[in-house]
Amino acid sequence: MFRVTRRYEFPASHRLHSPKLSENENQRIYGKCNNPYGHGHNYVVEISVRGPIDEATGRAVDPAALDGLVEREILKPLGHSDLNRDAAFQQVVPTTENLAVEIRRRLAVNWSKIFPGAWPKLEKIRIVETPRNIFEIEAT
Ligand code: NI
Repeated sequence: MFRVTRRYEFPASHRLHSPKLSENENQRIYGKCNNPYGHGHNYVVEISVRGPIDEATGRAVDPAALDGLVEREILKPLGHSDLNRDAAFQQVVPTTENLAVEIRRRLAVNWSKIFPGAWPKLEKIRIVETPRNIFEIEAT
C-alpha cells in the first residue's frame, strides 16, 4: 500500500473576523489577521491519497486525474480570490483550519466521479499557510 502526495499552490486573501465575537474580541483573538483590508497567502496544499499499485499501470494514483480534480474544484475557484467572498465562508471564518475542511469536502463530493474504483482513497490534506503555520486534516 502506498501513500502518494501531490503538492499544489494557490494565492488567496482572507480576513479573520467572526460575527460571533465582538469587535474587541475579534481584534484580541485574531490580531493583525483581523485587519479590515485582509491579507494574502500563497497556500501550499498537499493532498495525500492511499492505494495499492495498479498492476496494469504500476501506479497507485493517476496524477493527471488528481490534478484535473484539484484544478477544477480548488485552484480555479479559490486561486486569486478573496476567501471571505466564497459561499463556503459566509458562515464560517476562513481560517486555514476551515479552508482545509472545505478543500476536503470539495474533493470528497467529487472523488468517486474521478476515481470510481475502490482505490485510491483520499487520505489527508496538509496546508502550509506560512513557514510557521501548517495544518493537517485526515480525510475521514
Ligand atoms: Ni492569514
